[in-house]
Amino acid sequence: MNITVVHHPLVQHKLGLLREGAISTMKFRQLTQELARLLAYEATRDFELETVTIEGWCGPIEVQQIKGKKVTVVPILRAGLGMLDGVLDLVPSAKISVVGLYRNEETLEPVPYFDKFVDSLDERIAIIIDPMLATGGSMVATIDLLKRKGCKQIKAVVMVAAPEGVKVVNEAHPDVQIVAASLDSHLNEHGYIIPGLGDAGDKIFGTK
Ligand code: PRP
Ligand code: URA
Repeated sequence: MNITVVHHPLVQHKLGLLREGAISTMKFRQLTQELARLLAYEATRDFELETVTIEGWCGPIEVQQIKGKKVTVVPILRAGLGMLDGVLDLVPSAKISVVGLYRNEETLEPVPYFDKFVDSLDERIAIIIDPMLATGGSMVATIDLLKRKGCKQIKAVVMVAAPEGVKVVNEAHPDVQIVAASLDSHLNEHGYIIPGLGDAGDKIFGTK
């Protein structure tokens, strides 16, 4: 199984706090942002640098900068929005593309309802963000959309992944790195991750 689980103590501590059943909306939202920031740090670790010459205080100086066009962050609505500010803290100049999908509760199939992508996707790295990778249907559908638009470099950043979903994404898109705070045990009969976090969208938005 191809997944990068971030074992940093802060990541694991914050994930533990998120698993509290009676957590408030405010706390869940805050921790989601904090965790997203740390996961984005890991996901951007292998970004390519280039050397440029700038005018420093004592004359021209060579410095490193991230190569290529600005990254696009791709939150999957709704729950992915909860991670957006955390990721933007690290890559404030990123462009934002949005994909709207929800899971049909019976079939567990993703139902698309919206998308809006930035231009020049063939020249940008896309970082998809969604707290939960369960069956993998939503992630595969989002990667499919991005690739259809020409995107060649894609990373998926999730808080919690299920082995079933990781396998589905790995098989459909072996080139996409998945970064997560945890690879959990399994999916239950309703397609929820066990132990998981429950319904992340509801917890972030305060619905239900
Ligand atoms: C959740 C979650 C993922 C998807 C994961 O969204 O945020 O997008 O389910 O499930 P999958 O891997 O089986 O596709 P949900 O459909 O609950 O929508 P929401 O974000 O609007 O609450
Ligand atoms: N979506 C969620 O929000 N939680 C899960 O466990 C699975 C899908």
